[in-house]
Amino acid sequence: MEDLLEDTVLIQLRINGKYHELEISPSVSLLDLLRDELNFKGTHMGCMTGHCGACTVMINGKTAKSCITLASTLSNVDITTIEGLSDEEGNLSPLQESFWNTAGFQCGYCAPGMLFLTKELLEDNPNPTDDEIKTALEGTLCRCTGYQSLIRAVKDAAENISASKS
Ligand code: FES
Ligand code: FES
Repeated sequence: MEDLLEDTVLIQLRINGKYHELEISPSVSLLDLLRDELNFKGTHMGCMTGHCGACTVMINGKTAKSCITLASTLSNVDITTIEGLSDEEGNLSPLQESFWNTAGFQCGYCAPGMLFLTKELLEDNPNPTDDEIKTALEGTLCRCTGYQSLIRAVKDAAENISASKS
């Protein structure tokens, strides 16, 4: 039993473009690994049951809730945390600029979920309707904004991203 508890697994991850080789407990969540071992504190700890979305990251380009993802299942994947949305000098991406300029956040606790769900939505659907935005953001809860400013932020992001590509 003692041996089992002491078992570790070796995984390789690319996080925000940087390679990491890590020896971890098989039971550690991706959220705990990111926050406690690697200091990516922008990935927020909320409900810990997969409901609030505060812990959202991208795994191989798709949104995932890191609190319910076992890190040991993830060898050789690309992970993007909210720190990876800005560039190396800290300049905000067009997506982040839109949320900033339209007051898309108040406390910002929901920011990882809202930003990554928006990124995923706009990659598939660059010009979403209000209803499509509401459906896309359903996986993350916001206690502050009443959601109207979030819808404005997503629409502004759609324009901003489209302008940055033209
Ligand atoms: Fe992961 Fe709430 S902390 S979904
Ligand atoms: Fe506070 Fe969304 S801005 S939870």
